[in-house]
Amino acid sequence: MNIWVIGASTGIGLALAKAYAQAGHKVIISARSQSALDEIAQAGSNMTPLALDVTQDNSLREAMDYLAEHEIYLDKVILNAGTCEYIDSYEIERDTVRRVMETNFFGVLNVLQSLLPWLRIGKGNGVTQPQIVFVSSSVTYQALPRAGAYGASKAALRYFAECLRADLVHENFDIRIVSPGFVKTPLTDKNDFPMPFLLEVDDAARRIVKGLAGSAFDIHFPKRFTWALKFIGVLPDWLRLPIIAKASRHDLKQLPRHSNQEA
Ligand SMILES: NC(=O)c1ccc[n+]([C@@H]2O[C@H](COP(=O)([O-])OP(=O)(O)OC[C@H]3O[C@@H](n4cnc5c(N)ncnc54)[C@H](OP(=O)(O)O)[C@@H]3O)[C@@H](O)[C@H]2O)c1
Repeated sequence: MNIWVIGASTGIGLALAKAYAQAGHKVIISARSQSALDEIAQAGSNMTPLALDVTQDNSLREAMDYLAEHEIYLDKVILNAGTCEYIDSYEIERDTVRRVMETNFFGVLNVLQSLLPWLRIGKGNGVTQPQIVFVSSSVTYQALPRAGAYGASKAALRYFAECLRADLVHENFDIRIVSPGFVKTPLTDKNDFPMPFLLEVDDAARRIVKGLAGSAFDIHFPKRFTWALKFIGVLPDWLRLPIIAKASRHDLKQLPRHSNQEA
């Protein structure tokens, strides 16, 4: 199989790329850092580095030209590039939300716009059912404190993926979503809060590879965590919202005082 992993220089994407390459597949690894990709490709076999910034049209054009020039028809694309920034509710920063949406949501759309025509060409060249994998997050099962930017980007991605699945099923595309809980990667190493059921990255990659080989639309794990979030998500609001608010960092003593309070 030809597999394109986007966001493959570190974390989940790197672990996935290694797992597929070790299983004998040809893996194209993309991320912004050319030097990181070169190093990874040199250290293992079956991996081809292809630098890409999903937020930049010209970068995307160059990557698509490379695939066309080398006639790389894709069996599987893993849209995994992502970033996370948390929002401090004392000061909502629109730029933070824009930055996160630009990579996690619009970045994926940028890729898809160029990718779909290429996948269709692949179907005329031996690929039977191209698989498109959206890496979302379990945060979409229940809105969590401070996750407004990240969660909104991943919820938008989930919605979009479900629409696309409905729209493309007649063309025999295999659309999937991956919704991990906490996985130990450079992205979560920055977190300064407890991360329940934190998984090692190779464990997460194993679960994703297994899930994508099966038939589930949404591959979510670890189940104890994702089912708990799903369960909270279906509780009535009067019960659900106070539970979530308890996880907020709001400390009333730290709230900025309004002028009428100061009088
Ligand atoms: N770790 C978790 O607990 C967890 C949980 C749920 C979902 N996820 C999702 O899983 C995915 C991978 O996360 P991770 O934890 O493995 O994070 P990570 O180690 O930070 O990896 C992110 C990858 O995306 C690449 N990337 C970032 N911006 C990019 C851009 N504009 N264009 C192309 N590539 C870009 C990064 O490489 P460069 O910086 O070199 O571009 C890197 O290869 C993300 O979508 C994340 O939201 C993670």
